[in-house]
Amino acid sequence: MGSRKRIVVFASGGGSNFTQIQKAVEADKINADIVLLISNNPKAGAVKYASDHGIAVKIINGKRFPDPISYQDAFHEFIYPHEPDLLLLAGFMKLIPDSVVSKYNRKILNIHPALLPMFGGKGFYGMNVHRAVHAAGVKISGPTVHFVNEEYDAGPIIAQQAVPITVDDTPESIAAKVLVQEHKLYPEVVSAFCEDRIVWINNNAYIKD
Ligand code: GRF
Repeated sequence: MGSRKRIVVFASGGGSNFTQIQKAVEADKINADIVLLISNNPKAGAVKYASDHGIAVKIINGKRFPDPISYQDAFHEFIYPHEPDLLLLAGFMKLIPDSVVSKYNRKILNIHPALLPMFGGKGFYGMNVHRAVHAAGVKISGPTVHFVNEEYDAGPIIAQQAVPITVDDTPESIAAKVLVQEHKLYPEVVSAFCEDRIVWINNNAYIKD
């Protein structure tokens, strides 16, 4: 196993995925430390959780950085000193600037609450995803963890977990079932990344045992 990795997390909301990953770090199931949380929302649950657990927090939003250049620069200024090995999007509702995506190529992960490449892309976030899944009548959904590239939800897929959908399901019940699996899948993939167990074959990413 290589050296202990350094992780920066991005979250806008309650941060239940962030919390699960942090717990896995504390339990030594992930060979890493979370060194910084970036949020656009100072009132996010994720911000409170990070502060309560001694994790540095930086806020980047259009209010603090109204000029697009200073907004983009803020990402680099805040991230760079931490020398991260991995950036994790965990319910971050803003686009990561392209310059950050290219600088940290193959080092940014996202979790999406449906089986990509279906039900992804612009507009597919939060309950919109689960409503679309329910309306389509598909019989499985589930989380996808993928690398981030310049296009929404289109980077190389690393892992997915199927969740069955039955006649009694509603968008809300699908969201709840998928979230349970998100909390298992994301820490597993982060753990694999931090143990250098992601392999690339023809630009597709796989986890090796
Ligand atoms: C999750 O459903 C995740 O798939 C999506 O945003 C949501 C974040 O939830 N990208 P939480 O803030 O981690 O609870």
